[in-house]
Amino acid sequence: MDGEVNHARAELFNDSTEQRRHVHPVTHTLSETYTEHMARLLIVHHSPSPAVERLANAAISGAQHEDIEGVEVVVRPALEATVTDVLEADGYLLGTTANFGYISGALKHFFDTTFQATHEVTAKRPFSYWIHGGYDTTGAELAMTSITTGYRWSLTAPPLVFTGEVTETHLEEACELGATVAASLMS
Ligand SMILES: Cc1cc2nc3c(=O)[nH]c(=O)nc-3n(C[C@H](O)[C@H](O)[C@H](O)COP(=O)(O)O)c2cc1C
Repeated sequence: MDGEVNHARAELFNDSTEQRRHVHPVTHTLSETYTEHMARLLIVHHSPSPAVERLANAAISGAQHEDIEGVEVVVRPALEATVTDVLEADGYLLGTTANFGYISGALKHFFDTTFQATHEVTAKRPFSYWIHGGYDTTGAELAMTSITTGYRWSLTAPPLVFTGEVTETHLEEACELGATVAASLMS
């Protein structure tokens, strides 16, 4: 047995330092572990009507597209998302309605309750968002930009922001948004 081990060691260490690095068992184990790692996309949304629920579902289905490998999608209603959800994710997709010239109270609550514990650790992680309004999303967009600037997240796909009827085209755009943010997490 010892002879076999020594023989294997002799083969492993017989080459240059550079080559050894590639065949060393410890390196091998690390690279296998790395391959098994799943990136995680956290989708946090407030979708209080059937129309915006369809929008959220389109974004979720895009993020879960079969061509996107190695990315796990976790979906949370804004009032249920936690600090742990944020810390354990590698990227974020946020969805909200425009309410009273701002983002929804629900998404604001999400930011209020997670910011302190997460913003330093999650800085630079990719994110994007959608906002749907009835007539004017200006205040909601400003709020979203200002809050996510505070987190120092990195915008990885153009946000989807619009008012009025949710059309098939909007659903396709939401699907593409979800897919783009998820794909940005593929290694
Ligand atoms: C209390 C309340 C406040 C709202 N404030 C705004 C607003 O400031 N800007 C806007 O564009 N839409 C506003 N809306 C419309 C919502 O954004 C809209 O209802 C939501 O996106 C869902 O779309 P839907 O009603 O077409 O299903 C408001 C709706 C409610 C219920």
